[in-house]
Amino acid sequence: MNIRDHDEYAIEFNNLTKVFGEHTVLNDLSFKVHRGKITTILGFSGAGKSTLLKHILGLIKPTSGEVIVLGRDIAELSELRIREFRKKFGMLFQYAALFDSLSTFENIAFPLREFTKLKEIEIQGKVGELMKAVGLAEHSIHKLPSEISGGMRKRVGLARALALEPEIMLYDEPTTGLDPITTKMVNDLIKETAKNNVDKRMTSVIISHDVEATLKISDYVAFLENGQMVEHLPVNEFRKSQNPIIRRFLEL
Ligand SMILES: Nc1ncnc2c1ncn2[C@@H]1O[C@H](COP(=O)(O)OP(=O)(O)O)[C@@H](O)[C@H]1O
Ligand SMILES: [Mg+2]
Repeated sequence: MNIRDHDEYAIEFNNLTKVFGEHTVLNDLSFKVHRGKITTILGFSGAGKSTLLKHILGLIKPTSGEVIVLGRDIAELSELRIREFRKKFGMLFQYAALFDSLSTFENIAFPLREFTKLKEIEIQGKVGELMKAVGLAEHSIHKLPSEISGGMRKRVGLARALALEPEIMLYDEPTTGLDPITTKMVNDLIKETAKNNVDKRMTSVIISHDVEATLKISDYVAFLENGQMVEHLPVNEFRKSQNPIIRRFLEL
C-alpha cells in the first residue's frame, strides 16, 4: 500500500465530512497534527471532538474526505489491518476503563500478553518499568482498581496505554470529573510522558475543555466549531487569538 510522507505531520484530515442522519458534525474539515508534539483540540460540548478522535482510530468512517494516519489512508485498511494498526496508539479516556477484576500488574501486562510474545520474566520487567515511568509505587502492584485512588487508576491506565510503545497517544477528556489535585497530576503526567518520548517523536492529541491546563501543556491548540477547525495555532499565539468564538471560550 501507498504510504505517504509523515515526517512532519502524524495525522492529516483532508476535507473530512461526517454526517449522522441529518446532522453534519464535521463539515469539510482540514487539519494536520504535527508529529512529535502535543496538540489539544478544544471546543464546546457536542462540537464533534470525540467524533474526530474516533476517525483517527478507524472506529468511524468518513462520510467523505480522508484521514491519513502515519502516512496511511485509514479507509484503505481492512478491519484486520486496522486492528493491527491500533497497536500504534495509546489511549486514555475519561474513565481509565481498567479491568475491575485484574490487579495493577495484570492490567498493565494485558496488552503485552495480548499482542507480544514476551516471556513472563520479560513482562514482569516491562511492567516494572512502566509503573516507574508513571509513578506507581511497588505496593500497588497486586491491588485491584477498586483498592486504589482515582489518580492511581489514571496512572495504571496510562501505563497500560504506553505498554506497546505507541507512536500516538490519544487523550479524550482525561481529567473530566477529577478533583483539582488529581487533574494537575494527570496533566503533569501527560506532559512528562510526551517529554520522555520526545526522542521517539511521540505525538500526543488531547481533547479537552480544560482551557487552563491545555494552555500549560500543549505545543499547538486547535479549536473545533461548526464542524471545522476555526483556529489552529502554536499555544502562545492561540492565547492571543482575536477570533470572537475563541475569546468567548477563553473567557468562560
Ligand atoms: N454514533 C453517533 N450517532 C449519531 N450521532 C452521533 C454519534 N456520535 C456522535 N454523535 C453526535 O455528534 C455530535 C458530536 O458528538 P461528539 O463528537 O461526542 O462531541 P464532543 O466530543 O465534542 O462533545 C453530537 O451531537 C452527538 O450527539
Ligand atoms: Mg467528547
